Amino acid sequence: MGYEWDMNTNRDGNGSMENLFRTVGLRKVTIDSLPLPVFYKDKDGKYLGCNVAFELFIGRKECDIVGKSVYDLGPKEIADEYFKKDRELIRDGGKQVYEWVVKTTSGETRNVQFHKSLFNDDLGNVAGIVGSVLDITNQKQAVLAQEKLQQQLLLASKLASVGSLAAGVAHEINNPLTIIKGSVALLKMKASMSRLDTEQLLKTLANQEAAVDRMTNIVNGLLTFARVDTDTLDSVDVQKVITDTLDLYGSLFLQSALGVETRFHAGDMLVKANFGKLQQVLMNLLTNARDAMESVATKGLVRVQTLEQDGQIVIRCCDSGVGIEQDNLAKIFDPFFTTKEPGKGTGLGLSISHSIISSFGGKILVSSEVGVGACFEIYLPKAIS
Ligand SMILES: Nc1ncnc2c1ncn2[C@@H]1O[C@H](COP(=O)(O)OP(=O)(O)O)[C@@H](O)[C@H]1O
Ligand SMILES: [Mg+2]
Repeated sequence: MGYEWDMNTNRDGNGSMENLFRTVGLRKVTIDSLPLPVFYKDKDGKYLGCNVAFELFIGRKECDIVGKSVYDLGPKEIADEYFKKDRELIRDGGKQVYEWVVKTTSGETRNVQFHKSLFNDDLGNVAGIVGSVLDITNQKQAVLAQEKLQQQLLLASKLASVGSLAAGVAHEINNPLTIIKGSVALLKMKASMSRLDTEQLLKTLANQEAAVDRMTNIVNGLLTFARVDTDTLDSVDVQKVITDTLDLYGSLFLQSALGVETRFHAGDMLVKANFGKLQQVLMNLLTNARDAMESVATKGLVRVQTLEQDGQIVIRCCDSGVGIEQDNLAKIFDPFFTTKEPGKGTGLGLSISHSIISSFGGKILVSSEVGVGACFEIYLPKAIS
């Protein structure tokens, strides 16, 4: 009678499964059929054997490596590293998983993950190491490609807001410029008629100074926005982000005859975030609110509120716009989802905002009633000051 694969009889005894493998010659066939490179060494680091995939991986035959150590097969510096890892495993026991960069026989660089464990002899003493090599180059590249795409999306959405930003900035800078130009003309006229008194001169200069300050603020705001963002997280005052953003962007609302109202929680509102990115999120929300209110007949109003809830900082941004259809509520954070006409919407604003807020360890929620408006809420963990 041939061998039957009887799990009950072969599972219990220490060596019975091993015997079965040895007897029917399954062991070699099994490991040779694995696509993963597999090797085994004795506890001194000498190779006992390997499978076909490992032969291909290191470009040597099994018979060339048996009895040899990593020192016989590669440069000393690299062998030292491998040897150190083997020693650690024998010292600590258990499983060892780590990533490594290797050069293939064709000179290609690959990212791999080693998975290694110990095996025992019949007396239960450590006899050696069995290891496999998982090629994770493609996964690594996919992650990198995804990060790059995310960066590009971020840039795309930033560029999309630049157009509307430019209009707002032009408008904002025009006002102080008009003030300065007008008052300079007045001063010139009075001076030429020798009718300039000191009090009036000081008052006019103070007005001009305020106008210059206003423009400096706008320019500084633009610089923050244009800065190539690093990923560093700082303690950021949420209320300062909101006021700066409204300073920079508020004129867009005035221009469209829409109002903005702020209600700030008293005291510090520090979160761990990135100033420029949080500003970008707010700009996305404000732009959407403006778009949603433009088609509404009555004068629109955006309310931006900050509050503290269960140890978290909340920024609430509610508008009196057209609202969001129930069916669309689940889709609005998807990249490229837009209900706006081509050329107006990119569908990127909310998906980018979502990933920015997630990267701060926070969340962004929406609620809406069609015909009444939409409310976005950003929850951010408080920074420990
Ligand atoms: N405040 C809002 N009021 C109504 N609809 C909104 C609001 N904010 C977002 N939306 C809806 O979500 C969609 C996606 O928004 P977003 O990702 O910013 O892309 P875009 O603004 O380019 O369309 C919008 O097209 C709109 O349908
Ligand atoms: Mg948008």
